[in-house]
Formats: sequence, C-alpha cells, structure tokens
Amino acid sequence: METKLNITDPETGKTLELPVRRGTRGPPVVDISRLYQDLGYFTYDPGFLSTASCSSHITFIDGEKGILLYRGYPIEQLAERSHFLEAAYLLLYGELPSVSQLTTFNSHIVHHSMINESLRSFFNGFYYDAHPMATMVGVVGSLSAFYHDSTDIHNPEHREVAALRMIAKMPTIAAASYKHSIGEPINYPKNDLSYAGNFLHMMFSRPSEDYEIDPVVEKALDLIFLLHADHEQNASTSTVRLAGSTGANPFACIASGIAALWGPAHGGANEAVLNMLHEIGRAGRIPEFIARAKNKSDPFRLMGFGHRVYKNYDPRARIVQRAYHDVLTKLGNSDDPLFELALKLEEVALKDEYFIEHKLYPNVDFYSGLIYKALGIPTNMFTVMFAIARTAGWVAQWMEMIAESEQRIGRPRQSYVGPACRQYPAAGDD
Ligand code: ACO
Repeated sequence: METKLNITDPETGKTLELPVRRGTRGPPVVDISRLYQDLGYFTYDPGFLSTASCSSHITFIDGEKGILLYRGYPIEQLAERSHFLEAAYLLLYGELPSVSQLTTFNSHIVHHSMINESLRSFFNGFYYDAHPMATMVGVVGSLSAFYHDSTDIHNPEHREVAALRMIAKMPTIAAASYKHSIGEPINYPKNDLSYAGNFLHMMFSRPSEDYEIDPVVEKALDLIFLLHADHEQNASTSTVRLAGSTGANPFACIASGIAALWGPAHGGANEAVLNMLHEIGRAGRIPEFIARAKNKSDPFRLMGFGHRVYKNYDPRARIVQRAYHDVLTKLGNSDDPLFELALKLEEVALKDEYFIEHKLYPNVDFYSGLIYKALGIPTNMFTVMFAIARTAGWVAQWMEMIAESEQRIGRPRQSYVGPACRQYPAAGDD
C-alpha cells in the first residue's frame, strides 16, 4: 500500500503529497524528487545522513541490530558455509550458483586473471617505493586503455566481461603493486590455485625459492575477502555509482572507488588501526589515547571505532575477531601482544561513557588489520586487500545501476552561501 507524506509550504500554503516507498526491510523512503519542481525547495543533507541515493536489491544493513545480509543471506551464514567467489557470484547475479554455474564462473575468473603484458611494464613507471594504493588507482584506471572491447556500457555482455575482468585481475594488479614497491619481480598468476591462494602466490613467491601456500592463511584470507565484498551505499560504492551515472567506463569507475576507499575514514582505517596500536604501545597508555579521542580540540580519533550505519557491534568485526584468534592459535602465535592490546583497548572503550553515549563500537577495520598482520600481509597492503574484496560489490552495484530503467546522471544540488553578486572592478579603480 502506497502512503503519502504531506508537506506544506509555510510561505504559500501550498501542500504537496510526497509518495512514501517501502522496501523489503529498513525505514520507509520519502520520494522527494518532485519537491523542487512543485514547491521550489531543495533538501539539505550533507553526508547523506537521511538520504537513500538509490533502490538496491543487493545488500541490507540494520545498523541498530547489527545485521548484514548479501542478497538476503546473513553474513554469519555465508562466513560459515560459503566462500569469496560464491559470494561474488551471489552479489553479481542475485542467486547462489549451482555447482556447474560456480565451475563456469570460477573458470572465467581464472582465465581473466592475467594482465596484458604491456600493462606489466606500467609498474616500472611508478616511483620505486610508491604506496601500493597509489599504484592501484593508476593501473586500474588505465585498464580501459587495454580492454576497450568491454567498455560499451549499453551492451550487457561488455558489462559482464568488464565485471569478471575486474574481479579476476584485481589480485594480480594488487600483488604487482606490492612487488614493485619492494623491488621484486612481478609474478604471473597460476590457474590451478584458489582465488586467495593465487594472490598469496603472486605476493610472496620469488624466482629464487619455493613458496608453499599455508592452508590456514589461504582460508582466513578468503573469509576476509568474503566479509568485505559489499556493504551497500558506502562512500567508495557511492563514488563508483556516481562516476558510473555519467556513462564513464567501468574501469574508470572502479578506479574512482579505489581512490575513495583509500581515505582513513573509510578503508584506510585498517592501516591506521595498526599504526595507532603501535603508537599506543602498551596497555598503560590506553587512558591517554581514550582521553585524546574524546578531546574535541584534538583531531585524533580511535581508529577502527564508530560507523555511520552500525550503532551496535559491526557483525563483521565479531567474525574477524574470532577468526583472528583462530589463526593465531593455528599458526602457533597465540600470545601476540598487539591482540592483547587491541582487546584491552576495546574493553576500556566499551565501558567509557563517551563511547557508550556516542554508540561507538569496533568496526571491521579494528580487527582486519590485525589478522592481515598475522597472515603476513604488510601494513601498506591492508587497504589494497579491502579493494580486492570490495571490487565484487563495486561491480555488482555498478551493473545494477546501469541496468536500472530510471538511471539518470547523479547531480546533487547545493545551498549557495557565497556573495550574492559583485561587480568586477573597472579599469583604473583602486
Ligand atoms: N573516536 C572518537 N570519537 C568518534 C569516533 C572515533 N573513532 N567516531 C565518531 N566519533 C564521535 C565524533 O567526534 C562525533 O562526536 P560529537 O557528536 O560529540 O561531535 C560523533 O562520534 C559522531 O561522529 P561522526 O564523525 O559525525 O560520525 P560519522 O557517521 O560521520 O562518521 C566514521 C563515521 C567516519 C566511521 C567515524 O566514526 C570515524 O572517523 N571512525 C574512525 C575511522 C574508522 O574506523 N573508519 C572505518 C569505517 S568502517 C569502513 O569503512 C569499513
């Protein structure tokens, strides 16, 4: 049943009936698209605190209850029973794959994992110690110069091939960005390895010695990829959608998503958490850092705490925390002092009045940096790991948007508060 919300202009007395849309779950949405045309008002919502930018079938979050669903499936069940490529298929196509669908999907991903040989030489053009995220933004943006046979956004087959190429090539580009930053030769992917295993091979194997993939590390990495695969209209996904709404090619859109992800308020937080824990150093210094986080004249924030949507525990953080403990035990490293420090910091923060009042809980990044460290991933690769995983969500969201019949260019308005109008000084005026 469609309901309406009436709004009356206090200046003219004119009333407008705004349709209220109801999704499957979540708060109802007031359709204000005719507000300007009919009443002459814009709405004002910087940071999109109360604004739905689109309708989507893909991911649902209930931030009050700490619920996250991919296409209706709870993240806890997917983490327990599924794996990253199956989840990527689910995000892209809307249903869990049959055995043969998954085999075909897997084969497409495997066969698209190499990058054009000329593209490999790009890496040498970056400064010798470039941050791998900086290299990623550049190299992914350049993909459209190599794969223009999949950039016709009006052709569904092009869109699908572009999506598969990006999921497949991201680990290859990520590992190459890292190898360049440490001056080692870039490895080719191997088709007989799993998605996570292949990434580990490209990251860590060297021509001079054998590298054996540790199944504990491989499994944990796959789980982390699955947990980060999508998160509805977060900043980087919204960036991908906004870029895509202009008709920009998919490779350019994903490069813009990577750039947005890099910020410390978003995906860059996992790297920042580890740096923060090193800076805190020991449990005795926790109160000092908690006090700094509460001090409004200090820009310091407790990294890995707080979330725009979750006002309860981030369900992904709980899964990562458990997986981290499991990995430490299996790798025989259960007394990692940084884990002890992180647990203590969490305990102190969760009992603190400020954090309770502001509903600040650990988000996924609080523990993901720690598990990456345990898996041997270097700190400057943490946000890159996030980018590899989130590519599945970015391409799924981009595909959904392009296929949408009501799709229009995203073009927000503003409340102008600058000078009304000024006269440029005439010649000779002082
Ligand atoms: N430490 C201390 N105070 C905090 C923190 C924090 N980590 N996060 C929020 N606050 C406070 C703010 O100072 C503000 O206080 P006030 O109302 O008294 O002024 C209040 O909580 C609300 O914060 P906002 O910044 O308005 O919340 P917003 O929803 O815009 O931001 C964000 C969410 C960016 C995640 C924020 O909590 C933050 O900066 N956290 C640290 C960075 C981080 O961990 N980012 C990862 C996010 S998850 C992800 O991208 C995977």
